[in-house]
Amino acid sequence: MGYQLCPSILAADFWNLGDEIRQVEEAGIQWLHIDIMDGHFVPTISMGVPVVTSLRKASRLFFDVHIMAKEPAYLVDEFAEAGADMITVHAEAGVDLDRTLRRIHEKGCKAGIALNPATPVSVLEDVLELADMVLVMTVNPGFGGQKYIPYCTDKIRRLREMAKSRGKELDIEVDGGINRETIYTVLEAGANVIVAGSAVFRGDTRANAEALKGIIEEYEDNTGLRR
Ligand code: DX5
Ligand code: ZN
Repeated sequence: MGYQLCPSILAADFWNLGDEIRQVEEAGIQWLHIDIMDGHFVPTISMGVPVVTSLRKASRLFFDVHIMAKEPAYLVDEFAEAGADMITVHAEAGVDLDRTLRRIHEKGCKAGIALNPATPVSVLEDVLELADMVLVMTVNPGFGGQKYIPYCTDKIRRLREMAKSRGKELDIEVDGGINRETIYTVLEAGANVIVAGSAVFRGDTRANAEALKGIIEEYEDNTGLRR
């Protein structure tokens, strides 16, 4: 289980998207978080398959595609073929989570399950074994720049416990309101994949990415978890 800072391009300057991504690459980042929104599961629309296809031609980063859409099963093939490395779907969004996760694996991608703040960790009880990662939303999905919801900290902790008790090396991703203050809380609780949108792309992208990455590395050093 490695630690990753995962910049969310939702907060990037889309006019300069290539340059923004180059800056996080120069900061030594390995994962890129790509938010897909359908205007139904969440109130607004973001980007789609053509963006992922274009980025794939230009970047070798690990593409972490977070699908905030109803019935995501219909989108899996397209995003896998566009170049996603990880596809995460919401437990609340479709009728057949099991089948969707299996399809993601069949298409050669890692599979993630996302939980909205109000969705209990207990929905994972049976299906957890099919997930490579669980994304704990720490804001309500749909927009960048929101405030971290404090009760989510305990969900992260309980999920890490659940994974440990099953001997599972689960990636736990957190998404929403993560910045230079809240990052310590989620690391302590057991998250290891840290999404940050505004905290990376507002201001000096490269310096922000380096600063957050530095905090994660220091945490790893202090806890002796670096591999
Ligand atoms: C919100 C998205 C997030 C968003 C996070 O629905 O899933 O990935 O970009 O933005 P910040 O880090 O600004 O809260
Ligand atoms: Zn996201």
